[in-house]
Amino acid sequence: MKVITVLTRKGGAGKTTLLRALVSAATSEGKKCLALDGDPQKALLRWSNRLNYDNPLLEVRNLEDAAALEKETDDAWDEGKTDFVFVDTLGAAGEWADVLAAFSDHLVCPMMLTETDLEITIDTFNWYCGLLDRTENPEDLPTFHVVLARVPSKPSKAMLKVAEKAVKLFPVIDEMFMERKQHADSDMEGLLQDVAEIKRKDPNHLIRTHARYFVEAIEEAKEILEGVIGGKK
Ligand SMILES: Nc1ncnc2c1ncn2[C@@H]1O[C@H](COP(=O)(O)OP(=O)(O)OP(=O)(O)O)[C@@H](O)[C@H]1O
Ligand SMILES: [Mg+2]
Repeated sequence: MKVITVLTRKGGAGKTTLLRALVSAATSEGKKCLALDGDPQKALLRWSNRLNYDNPLLEVRNLEDAAALEKETDDAWDEGKTDFVFVDTLGAAGEWADVLAAFSDHLVCPMMLTETDLEITIDTFNWYCGLLDRTENPEDLPTFHVVLARVPSKPSKAMLKVAEKAVKLFPVIDEMFMERKQHADSDMEGLLQDVAEIKRKDPNHLIRTHARYFVEAIEEAKEILEGVIGGKK
């Protein structure tokens, strides 16, 4: 069982969307996922309640506070059926982040390609480096990876420059999380593979062909997930 926490001090960077894409990737491979919503806005929990989600491979639950992660992961571990625990968080700094880090295997930090996002990601990375400095057993800390997020298919020169800087500063996952309309559909209709299925059944041939865009999005998320769990500190 791997515990993956999505976090960044920057609000709106794409945490919840990335988390949902990673859950889509994992469940589409038959992995059982527990998704915990630790953001007071409860975007993830609202999504699952709104869709009245009934999927044997996915349970979405509220995370009362950071300290509750220990019990959640212990319970999931004892039950022995969960492959991944994903934790969604608030786009801000706080002591809660230290607590989540203590119970996570991997931290994933989405970063949009702007100078402001870069600067705030530096803050987030410095927080992680501070944890490494303070701990006696750095090998017990989770890995930290930046995912370049919401990348348009034709990024501007300014965006490419930011990406170059990011790669020099942080451990960046090779695969980028591209800006895709399919993620907005996923917010309305379910996991990426579920929306793909809805498209495949559409009476309109044109809409049926759209299923492949969802498959592409899942493949991308699988690569990102692979980078997260395979990557070194
Ligand atoms: N890869 C993407 N492609 C298209 N739209 C995206 C993508 N990532 C995020 N978005 C959109 O950007 C907006 C912000 O994304 P999201 O809610 O995931 O960010 P967040 O970091 O969780 O925000 P918050 O800090 O408020 O929790 C949403 O409208 C979402 O649909
Ligand atoms: Mg969010």
